[in-house]
Amino acid sequence: MKKILIVIFSIIGLVLIACGAWYYTNFAKYAPEVYVTETPSPTGTTTEKTTVDTKNNTTQPGSPEFTVAEVAAHTTVESCYTIINGKVYDLTMWVNMHPGGKQAILSLCGIDGTARFQAKHGSSTQANGALARFLIGTVK
Ligand code: HEM
Repeated sequence: MKKILIVIFSIIGLVLIACGAWYYTNFAKYAPEVYVTETPSPTGTTTEKTTVDTKNNTTQPGSPEFTVAEVAAHTTVESCYTIINGKVYDLTMWVNMHPGGKQAILSLCGIDGTARFQAKHGSSTQANGALARFLIGTVK
């Protein structure tokens, strides 16, 4: 009886470790919760810091900006950017991970995907949380 329990708990432990490793290699590693860009000020004495917070889906003034044309250049499975509510997201990672299929994400690449995203997932906490992890800046 004891042996069976040990085997069961070992299997559960291994599954949890595998899930953690999968999540880390496929997702967390590529989408840090916060990233900071540092720009030396013109005088060279201080450093200006701007932050993209991919946990709270927020940017500070001065964080990376993209033109609509720059976003429009990323339309493929190799590099997919989209605009949602004036913010720019790099969805490349998400194309093959999306539970609703890759076509839904590919249909947003290079364009303003706000309407499509809202229509399907506007009120979904999970989808909005996933989206936030891919924030890279705002539209110029
Ligand atoms: C950046 C864009 C998107 C993100 C981050 C995203 C995220 C997610 C997530 C986290 C799920 C699983 C949980 C849930 O259902 O809420 C999901 C499921 C799904 N998504 Fe998306 N999604 C995006 C765009 C779209 C678009 C544009 C469509 C279709 C027009 C779509 C169609 C679906 C479908 C069909 C499912 C399967 C579950 C269901 O029917 O609700 N998604 N998506």
